[in-house]
Amino acid sequence: MTFTASLLAALVALPAISQPVGQRLAPYVPSPQEVIDRMLEVAQARQGDTVIDLGCGDGRILITAVQKFRARAIGIEIDPKIAKEASDTILKLGLQNKARVVRADVFDVDLSQADVVTLYLTTSFNEKLRPKFEKTLRPGTRVVSHDYGIRGWNPREVEEVFVHGRRHRIFLYIVEAKPNLPLEGKKN
Ligand SMILES: C[S@@+](CC[C@H](N)C(=O)[O-])C[C@H]1O[C@@H](n2cnc3c(N)ncnc32)[C@H](O)[C@@H]1O
Repeated sequence: MTFTASLLAALVALPAISQPVGQRLAPYVPSPQEVIDRMLEVAQARQGDTVIDLGCGDGRILITAVQKFRARAIGIEIDPKIAKEASDTILKLGLQNKARVVRADVFDVDLSQADVVTLYLTTSFNEKLRPKFEKTLRPGTRVVSHDYGIRGWNPREVEEVFVHGRRHRIFLYIVEAKPNLPLEGKKN
């Protein structure tokens, strides 16, 4: 699937900029660059991957995914002003063929094209997203979360990164294949 097609698949409907699109469930706090680099390393982001940042803020994870890891990136951001700033930065850097920002509620987007999902939200937000992840993420998708784990999932790795004396944690999860359901009518 082309990047444009996968982007379209990621969207439900792009609302007009002034239209409310859902509930903001986390504040805007950018991840430090050192943490972003490590998140994408731990997730083994690489060329050909689609990285989706849920709540992308100013787009710094998208920009790093494209520039340092040669991936494609889609950011979902509910705040229209922040989403526009991120889009403008991507345009200014000439990365528009590799990265896009979609102003939307994370609950309204299709995540099935993701190879890597990045999060810097909250524990309760992650918990609300878990059923969507379990329903739509493909087996093998790497989910990497800054500071907040996903309750009910076992992390493959938990790493600590210290930036200016502050400890940041990075949780890596890998989506497992769904258990095979018994065939209808099959007798043991
Ligand atoms: C802590 S910031 C993380 C920014 C960026 N991912 C980073 O790590 O630098 C969380 C972002 O999620 C956005 N957000 C909150 N609720 C959202 C929702 N329901 N849908 C989409 N974005 C949301 C906020 O506006 C904010 O920009």
